[in-house]
Amino acid sequence: MVKRKMCIIGAGMVGSATMMAILNLNLVAEIVLIDQNEKKAEGEALDVFHTTSFTYVPNVMIRKGSYEDCKDSQIIVMSAGPSIKPGEKPDRRILTQTNANVTRAVMKEITRYTQEAILIFVSNPVDVVTYIAQNEFGYPRHKIFGTGTLLDTARMRRIIGEHYLVDTKNVHGYVLGEHGQTAFITWSICNIGGIPIDSVAPKFKLPPIDKEEILKKVKNAGLEILLAKGYTNYGIAESVARIVTAICLNELSVLPVTTTLEGEYGITNVAISVPCIIGKEGIHDILEIPLSLNEQEALKKSAESVMKLMSDFEI
Ligand code: 2OP
Repeated sequence: MVKRKMCIIGAGMVGSATMMAILNLNLVAEIVLIDQNEKKAEGEALDVFHTTSFTYVPNVMIRKGSYEDCKDSQIIVMSAGPSIKPGEKPDRRILTQTNANVTRAVMKEITRYTQEAILIFVSNPVDVVTYIAQNEFGYPRHKIFGTGTLLDTARMRRIIGEHYLVDTKNVHGYVLGEHGQTAFITWSICNIGGIPIDSVAPKFKLPPIDKEEILKKVKNAGLEILLAKGYTNYGIAESVARIVTAICLNELSVLPVTTTLEGEYGITNVAISVPCIIGKEGIHDILEIPLSLNEQEALKKSAESVMKLMSDFEI
């Protein structure tokens, strides 16, 4: 097996769940957890490392480390920075200034050691932090992207799959745009096993889905979980694991991830989620899929919303 090494920056709830999700892929030989709180990183790494005696993941090393470990890492996940705390305004945007600063500090450290590794950004607002990382450090842009609306898309597919009692792998369609309140679902191309979404109900002899309700559920899912348990971590951790699989196996999978657009969909100089081909080089291509006029409008509105967020905070 190729001896892959990856770093996870941030030993919080997301970073530690991501470590577990990556371990279980059995695709990475060494996982290094980096955090300012070295004790926390050490404890989380040790705890996950001990699980390998049950999971028989051969010869894997999981440990705390430092930014120097970025030098020979193929993948680096950035999940550092605060998330929304219970009682705070349940809007990822409140993290903008803080996590913009954290992103700049982390990128300064990473770029001291590598320009090769693929960088996956998780911290919110993920569209803003991805834009900063892609555009301020001269790092190869295709090697940087954010988890964006990959988790939102997974949530959408899960809800529709549950409604129509079908495998979510056969529910096709995306949530695109901002990982936040201006995200939208590409209903015009949504289908189940090739059956256009609007024709599924009669074919499956089930009541039709409520599209507005599904969009609302998807957009509020992260915040609903956060209000219930104080944070979200498993969904985003598995989203990262999905991306890491596509990179390690050079799957060339089409995944909705955050990247800076330079004219695609008529949008420039803002990072939002669109379908991209993900493989061993990172983003191999940005796909311009056919969108209805309403969806093109929704994507532009989402882009404007992220741009406004960045100008409001003078990012
Ligand atoms: C989520 O949607 C909080 O962005 C995170 O789970």
